[in-house]
Amino acid sequence: MTRSVPVRGRLLLGAMLGLIACSVAGTAVAAVDAVAAKKMARKESCLRCHALDRKKEGPSYQAVAYKYKDQADAQDKLVEHITAGKKVKLTDGHEETHKITKTKDPEQIKNLIAWILAQ
Ligand code: HEC
Repeated sequence: MTRSVPVRGRLLLGAMLGLIACSVAGTAVAAVDAVAAKKMARKESCLRCHALDRKKEGPSYQAVAYKYKDQADAQDKLVEHITAGKKVKLTDGHEETHKITKTKDPEQIKNLIAWILAQ
């Protein structure tokens, strides 16, 4: 006769596996704080040149999210874009250095980019 695991034991095991699965998923996807991101975009005057769904001086954030959707290093590239001051061309043809965020907190910068990429 084979001994099976008692029902109570199996339930407990199931519950434990469930908990582990939840905590793994929880750390893999960092939640975007959209409210904080929008506030920062407004404060840093990003929205003067960018809109979510139409081109202004710069591309819409939807277009940016689309362009980078399959790129694993999108976050790093875009963090660099808004902190390194690369040359960009405006609609009237003149070139200037892209806006560098006044905020230096890496977490806030990452959150802003994550929000853009989620559009
Ligand atoms: C003076 C206008 C202006 C302001 C202000 C501005 N941008 Fe831009 N941004 C541009 C232009 C123009 C481009 C297009 C650059 C290009 O494609 O060469 C651009 C491109 C981008 C891109 C896409 C880069 C890529 O590799 O495709 C992101 C992301 C971005 N801006 C984010 C921001 C954020 C975040 C802020 C605020 C901190 C900001 N921008 C403020 C004009 C601006």
